[in-house]
Amino acid sequence: MTSYIGAVDQGTTSTRFIIFDQNGNMVSVSRTTHDQICEKPGWVAHDPAQIRDNTFTVIERALAKAGLTGKDLAAIGVTNQRETVAAWDRHTGKPLYHAVVWQCARSDEICRNLDAVYGKDCFRQQTGLPTATYFSGPKIKWMMDHVPAVRQAVDNGTALFGTMDTWVIWNLTGGPGKGNHVTDVTNASRTLLMNLNTLDWDPDILKTLGIPRDCLPAIVPSSDPAALGRTHAPGPLGHGVTVGGALGDQQAALFGHTCFAPGEAKNTYGTGCFLLFNTGHKIIFSRHGLLTTPAYQIHGERPVYALEGSIAYAGALVQWVRDNLGLIASAPEIEDLANTVEDNGDVYCVPAFSGLFAPHWRPDARGVIAGLTQYATKGHIARAVLEATAYQTKDIVEAISKDLGKHLDLTALKVDGGMVENHTLMQFQADILDKKVIRPKVTETTALGAAYAAGLAVGFWPDTGSLKEKWQAHTTWYPHMDDLRRTRLYDSWQKAVKTSFGWC
Ligand code: G3P
Repeated sequence: MTSYIGAVDQGTTSTRFIIFDQNGNMVSVSRTTHDQICEKPGWVAHDPAQIRDNTFTVIERALAKAGLTGKDLAAIGVTNQRETVAAWDRHTGKPLYHAVVWQCARSDEICRNLDAVYGKDCFRQQTGLPTATYFSGPKIKWMMDHVPAVRQAVDNGTALFGTMDTWVIWNLTGGPGKGNHVTDVTNASRTLLMNLNTLDWDPDILKTLGIPRDCLPAIVPSSDPAALGRTHAPGPLGHGVTVGGALGDQQAALFGHTCFAPGEAKNTYGTGCFLLFNTGHKIIFSRHGLLTTPAYQIHGERPVYALEGSIAYAGALVQWVRDNLGLIASAPEIEDLANTVEDNGDVYCVPAFSGLFAPHWRPDARGVIAGLTQYATKGHIARAVLEATAYQTKDIVEAISKDLGKHLDLTALKVDGGMVENHTLMQFQADILDKKVIRPKVTETTALGAAYAAGLAVGFWPDTGSLKEKWQAHTTWYPHMDDLRRTRLYDSWQKAVKTSFGWC
């Protein structure tokens, strides 16, 4: 009896496998972290082999914990850190280099050259994205230009490229000689190589970057009964299970929050922080620093699009305070430290560690702590660190309003991710946005979204309406701050942001 759905969540810092029952409740979870390889300032990489092995291990462990086997799963979904890209040999399955991570700025020169030669953001019309190191296409070009093994494999026709969904699915479906080389529309859209209208690789962009199409995966819907493939029997599931869903993690969270209607939005506070706003079947090109991206595509249906605001450092900023400054021993302690003071004491922290993402897209920005006086304590710095994510979220909500040409009529912002445990941050988020912030009962929204996509594909759940009925609020934070104070704080934040520009 196949009563469960499994979801791989291959994230920036860890990989998890979560098993859900028909009600969307978590039955079992296993998680393991992987290395962050930082060879130079601004560079971040992962080991694809370690990620593959971790994926297999967490699947085995989560099944064993629940006393289940692959036969008990109606399907699995895959969700992943987006933009991070790997290259491997199609015959041996061996990685040709590290996976270059979304936060990595090593392709900066490539992006600057594209801007100089073809004009700023030359692919925005086709892709909905600015030209930035964040996206996979320039990272692939960097590998082809700088890693001899990658160049040689591309020339020999043995290279395969893929974002982490592709790498995981290719391995789960049998690897060399058997693996299904696919990606879904949401992941493909983050390469800077996919045309938003055709949902296919854009031939002009591939030509400009010199990337051969046959090294790239086939682009398929995010929820599909056949296109993503079936797991290979001797693998960690020990059985052929349909891969029914695949979505980039932020789109998966939108799906898991059941934000299926235009105008609904979610914000995920993970390593980074990502706000997605459903725009329905309409492609809205941002003129205020947001990304236009597919939200999901269900097999046989038109794609749904979103506007996205991406913040590079959120939870990762708290980790920096823990690991690099040593102000706290564990990440949750930041809340106690922040609560040793009443307010931020006029201190602001702009975490532009690898430039600033949305809505500024300033690769020349670097992190600043502004407004220091002798009065400031580590408590004020902790508060400034937490508030940084809330202010950046407000920057994004303001940009969405500008793009829509009207005040954003968001009744509530649905939230998830590790930092939603932090009441101080969530209260401040509601205050600075002047909007309700709601956390759901199941906070593993990303994995749940991938499970939902997989379950829909195989008829485990009948339709999106039935999923919507399952969503339940856990905590709601209401805004209490007066307008004058909100305006004063936000003005100072904007001043601090300007001081982060122009450092390199
Ligand atoms: O675009 C990068 C994003 O997908 C990473 O998400 O949850 O690993 O911070 P996360």
